[in-house]
Amino acid sequence: MFSTYTYAAIDVAREAGRLLLSLQSQPLKVSYKGARDLVTHVDRAAERLIIEALRERFPGHAFLAEEEVQEEGEIRWIIDPIDGTTNYAHGLPLFAVSIALEVRGEVTTGVVFIPALNEMFVAEQGKGAHLDDGRTLVPLKTLSLYSPWRRIRVSSVKDIRQSVLSTGLPYDVWETGRNLDHLTKLCRRAQAVRLTGAAAIQLAYVACGRLDGFWEPDLKPWDVAAGSLLVIEAGGMVTLLDGRPFTHHAGEILATNGHIHKQLLEALQEKPLKSSYEML
Ligand code: IPD
Ligand code: CA
Ligand code: CA
Repeated sequence: MFSTYTYAAIDVAREAGRLLLSLQSQPLKVSYKGARDLVTHVDRAAERLIIEALRERFPGHAFLAEEEVQEEGEIRWIIDPIDGTTNYAHGLPLFAVSIALEVRGEVTTGVVFIPALNEMFVAEQGKGAHLDDGRTLVPLKTLSLYSPWRRIRVSSVKDIRQSVLSTGLPYDVWETGRNLDHLTKLCRRAQAVRLTGAAAIQLAYVACGRLDGFWEPDLKPWDVAAGSLLVIEAGGMVTLLDGRPFTHHAGEILATNGHIHKQLLEALQEKPLKSSYEML
């Protein structure tokens, strides 16, 4: 059903997930990359595990990973060993392992695994997006076999007023206030806005229709590479915040079910509102 690369990413993401769960209850060694941007010894251990396991299988491939390894190469794995480190360090279950395969600049496989919920989201270019949540067995059309993989699709919500959106705030929001304007505008237009603290999970949740849209500035390739492919393969739309074509290197993303994309773009372009009564 999937390529050798994708099955390898799935196996390695599960292995890293087991490590994250087994170490979460032990004391964490925390250090800071910025005033609020924390990293734990588990981020580094998981990154090493993932890279070692993939390098063993694919010795010619390059790696771009958040913590320690930044290489160039035509075939490259893009890795976030823990997306949602702040959640992880606080004992919250919303953290994920994100692994993408980039071939000559294009993402061809995306895997987002949420170990605490045992949710494995997988997309392969041209093959759709799938979820194995360990609970559902889907009958295959032939041979009466059952598969753990359920095809997922974006939601059908067409009006921003009925949408549940989500976003994140950059680590330097104390100084820059970045994205607070957008958050205010969208809070006044959507049914609800959620901040879960893990971009990869928010993208996976747009892909399976739990969320209708996600936007965020100031992201890195490892935050969005796998998740953006999930949304595209699930029938959604992904652009930059002003509607330009998306690339996972651009540092921002607007991902929706497609139906509400234009409404979100328009809302994001609006001038900031002055008072909370301006819309009444
Ligand atoms: C962060 C999360 C968060 C987003 C930050 C990211 P990390 O990744 O995805 O939701 O708001 O911008 O850096 O640091 O937990 O891997
Ligand atoms: Ca991340
Ligand atoms: Ca991370």
